[in-house]
Amino acid sequence: MSQLRFPGVPLVEVRAATDADVPAIRALMAPHIASGAVLPRAVVAADFLVACVQGRVEGCVALTPWTDEVIELGSLVSARSGLGRLLVEAACEAAVARGCQQIVALTGVADFFLRCGFEPQGTAPWAVARGMVAGPPAVAAKARKCAACPLLAGCAQTLLARPLKIRLAA
Ligand SMILES: CC(C)(COP(=O)(O)OP(=O)(O)OC[C@H]1O[C@@H](n2cnc3c(N)ncnc32)[C@H](O)[C@@H]1OP(=O)(O)O)[C@@H](O)C(=O)NCCC(=O)NCCS
Repeated sequence: MSQLRFPGVPLVEVRAATDADVPAIRALMAPHIASGAVLPRAVVAADFLVACVQGRVEGCVALTPWTDEVIELGSLVSARSGLGRLLVEAACEAAVARGCQQIVALTGVADFFLRCGFEPQGTAPWAVARGMVAGPPAVAAKARKCAACPLLAGCAQTLLARPLKIRLAA
């Protein structure tokens, strides 16, 4: 997908994950699932992008559609400073290529996403799933999935969103 090379700086490549990357993605995510920073999920290579440094997977991010227009960026892990933002930008690029209009994140590190151009949104899907408020269609669609999550009762993740540039046909 993209490669960066600067003199004296290791080669970084962000690309679509393959089945061979699944063990490395699981290993990256495991400590953050244990700490509660990242939600557990099935690791299907087709959902993930990985960031590789000198060929080694050191970061990952997953894209999960909520609707045709709205897609969630999740399971973001960076084991090396700088890869977090790189993966967010790559995920946004991939979401544009899929025709999405908005990318969202549910997170405990809202400040990081603010640094990456996201803005807080009013209604989180966990609040809709708990029957506390009504939400717009995309949030309600995610809330139906949250309703089956064993972590719903304690969830307090912040919902942030970033609009995506739409590519117009020539
Ligand atoms: C959050 C995480 C992905 C950030 O990755 P990273 O590679 O360290 O981030 P970057 O170096 O690209 O940082 C980009 C910017 O965000 C800032 N930043 C990084 N982590 C931050 C945090 N936890 N809170 C606030 N700002 C943060 C950086 O200082 C940098 O700021 P700048 O705009 O001044 O340059 C990484 O710390 C991580 O994997 N955390 C554990 C898992 C997790 O919480 N994932 C998010 C779940 S949605």
